[in-house]
Amino acid sequence: MRIDIISAVPDLLSSPLNHSIMKRAQDKGLLTIYVHDIRTYGLGSHRQIDDYQYGGGAGMVMMVEPLFNCIEELRNQRSYDEIIYMSPDGDLLDQSLSNQLSLKENLLIICGHYKGIDERIREHMVTKEISIGKYVLSGGELAAAVVVDSIGRLIPGVLNDGSSALFDSFQDGLVAPPVYTRPESFNGWDVPKVLLSGHDKKIEDWRMEQSLKRTGEKEKT
Ligand code: ADE
Repeated sequence: MRIDIISAVPDLLSSPLNHSIMKRAQDKGLLTIYVHDIRTYGLGSHRQIDDYQYGGGAGMVMMVEPLFNCIEELRNQRSYDEIIYMSPDGDLLDQSLSNQLSLKENLLIICGHYKGIDERIREHMVTKEISIGKYVLSGGELAAAVVVDSIGRLIPGVLNDGSSALFDSFQDGLVAPPVYTRPESFNGWDVPKVLLSGHDKKIEDWRMEQSLKRTGEKEKT
């Protein structure tokens, strides 16, 4: 899978996308991420990318031309399954949306900044808008990193244990059960006996029971 990200602050993306599982995905050649600095497409000698909004009001708006030129250049090289704009008023990201996106070949993600991007880009070029929660971040970069991480780990072969993403919380609508590792007892806090029993069926039943319990508890809150 290839993901292109358009950003005014590319440095914000470099750490989250180049460590841990996302690094492994790229090292294995399963995921390729290109971050494009929108300023390269900025206008004039100052490489302007934002301007005051028509109608007045505080805050700058990312201009239509630099974004259009950048998107067009990328679109001329390949076709994108989705052109995504990160926005607090987009569709709320959930596991089902991540699953769907993880099956795509080419994604283009636009990160807004300041007051957002000129509406004409949203109207004529963007095919999907995604929010990571009902709160406003300073820009779309951290949200884009969340989207890429949630998609990237679902690409077959990215996680060592091929099945482990399948058992993530929410994959089957259930929250994952509790997990423990050594030591068996710490500070008087004991690992549930059933997990030490070696009895696969009992362990599976216990995990399912815990998942259901947690899911029920979470739904009440
Ligand atoms: N950009 C700013 N806030 C955002 C959010 N909550 N989700 C996605 N993109 C955003």
